[in-house]
Amino acid sequence: MTAGAKMQEDLGRPPSETGGIVVLDFGGQYTQLIARRVREQQVFSAILPCTAQPEAIRAYEPAGMILSGGPSSVYDADAPKCDPAVLEMGIPVLGICYGMQWIAKTMGGEVEKAERREYGRASLHVESAERDSQLFAGVPERLRIWNSHGDKVNALPAGFHATGRTENAIAAAENPEKQIYAVQFHPEVQHTERGTELLRNFLFRVCKAQAKWSGTAFVEETVDAIRKRVGNKFAICGLSGGVDSTVAAVIVHRAMGNRLTNIFVNTGLLRKNEFEDTLKMYRERLGLHVIGVDATDRFLAQLKGVSDPEEKRKRIGREFIGVFAEEAERLQRGEAHGEIAFLVQGTLYPDVIESVSVKGPSATIKTHHNVGGLPENMPFMLIEPLRDLFKDEVRRMGKDLGLPEEILVKHPFPGPGLAVRVLGEVNAEHLSTVREADAIVREEIRRAGLYERVWQAFAVLLPVRSVGVMGDGRTYGLTVAIRVVESEDAMTADWVRLPGDVLEKMSTRIVNEVPGVTRVVYDVSSKPPSTIEWE
Ligand code: XMP
Repeated sequence: MTAGAKMQEDLGRPPSETGGIVVLDFGGQYTQLIARRVREQQVFSAILPCTAQPEAIRAYEPAGMILSGGPSSVYDADAPKCDPAVLEMGIPVLGICYGMQWIAKTMGGEVEKAERREYGRASLHVESAERDSQLFAGVPERLRIWNSHGDKVNALPAGFHATGRTENAIAAAENPEKQIYAVQFHPEVQHTERGTELLRNFLFRVCKAQAKWSGTAFVEETVDAIRKRVGNKFAICGLSGGVDSTVAAVIVHRAMGNRLTNIFVNTGLLRKNEFEDTLKMYRERLGLHVIGVDATDRFLAQLKGVSDPEEKRKRIGREFIGVFAEEAERLQRGEAHGEIAFLVQGTLYPDVIESVSVKGPSATIKTHHNVGGLPENMPFMLIEPLRDLFKDEVRRMGKDLGLPEEILVKHPFPGPGLAVRVLGEVNAEHLSTVREADAIVREEIRRAGLYERVWQAFAVLLPVRSVGVMGDGRTYGLTVAIRVVESEDAMTADWVRLPGDVLEKMSTRIVNEVPGVTRVVYDVSSKPPSTIEWE
């Protein structure tokens, strides 16, 4: 268990996190989406593995449970299972897809093994009007729904009745007396018509949950909990310039003021002006206590002669920890007088979920060391104020905390920075080339009004020389690739169909303004099979 989790346990659940929904995960691709949809209704949600025992569930004092979908068939030998006792806890349950099939099979119904999986749209006929279903209250008789299932329920367990059917299957059923509801389709995905209304009906009509999970409550409760926990001790935080570490630092700063020292390292691999501008923002606009360390030369020395991407990553990671540890030690000996006891990290909820989809049902929570490898004589406890939040919630929280827009909408940037965007060996000259080209790409994307609509836009320097002609002479210069992608979560990505005039502007400016570049190409590969970064 991480110190963050321990801290949470020591202090009990904050009030806004009780009375929420526990999502029991059968390994479905939409499990996190279910949890987010619930939170969008200002009801807290937590994802637990399907094997969670009733007492672990009760610790959340939930108003209801949702059993997720999953890729298995209930007949598979290793099909994931809940403890059937969860259906007897007196807490309302909604089973979705596999969740429905597991409920039906466990409670004595009949599930038919399908020959092949069925995906996509279907039409649902709601049969609830005469039965007065709370789940379907206020929705029309016909709904377009999104299916993704193999098995189907043929006969319902005793006490259940069907509330909806598609052409060939029972698509919704319930046992209102036991407060158990089940749907074969996915109300959490956008393609399901009135899906949000169905989830709202479950939350507010069936579970009688209160909409009390909000950014303000979260910040207040977290600040309070940190204050209690840290007492008079000191903490340090490594800032990356990104939104997660910034929001984490701002929250902890509220709790302990300048007893939190932040360390922001210039690796020499950041984007144009990024170190100076971000440092200024941290200090002047956010009032954070930040030590800025320029370690450019150290990183460059580490990268000399290295072209293998993984080796670059390894060396950068190692050097980063070295610089960070030195600063922390200096601080520990100096102004903190040996009182630094905590390390702040911007770990997010998707990283701590102990779920089947990530790790298999028996997995334990992984330990997190974003700044892993700190020397053993620095035994910090972790403070992870964002460990209950999804990325979009962190952005919203950042907004509530008054963070400048520019940091909230900032494109993701890899830890190893421009080193993985200079293919092959990295040197100061090539870094400068890619940095200038990158600045032009981002400037033109902004000018075209597209910055906030794309996931990432950047330049990559290829160590390939090609012949060009400039003025009256032949040139033999380098190539820059422009990469602009759209994505929801970086797991998949598509290249953006940029207007020709935007590409033209980028290309002309790069060749004219960046010395040594004579050719510009546009990357038209999607992920998969390509990745977003080139290394
Ligand atoms: P790929 O290239 O794997 O990238 O499609 C997916 C997302 O992750 C970012 N990325 C990294 N982030 N350290 C990071 O912190 C890394 O080594 C790293 N490599 C890729 C990338 O920018 C994209 O958003």
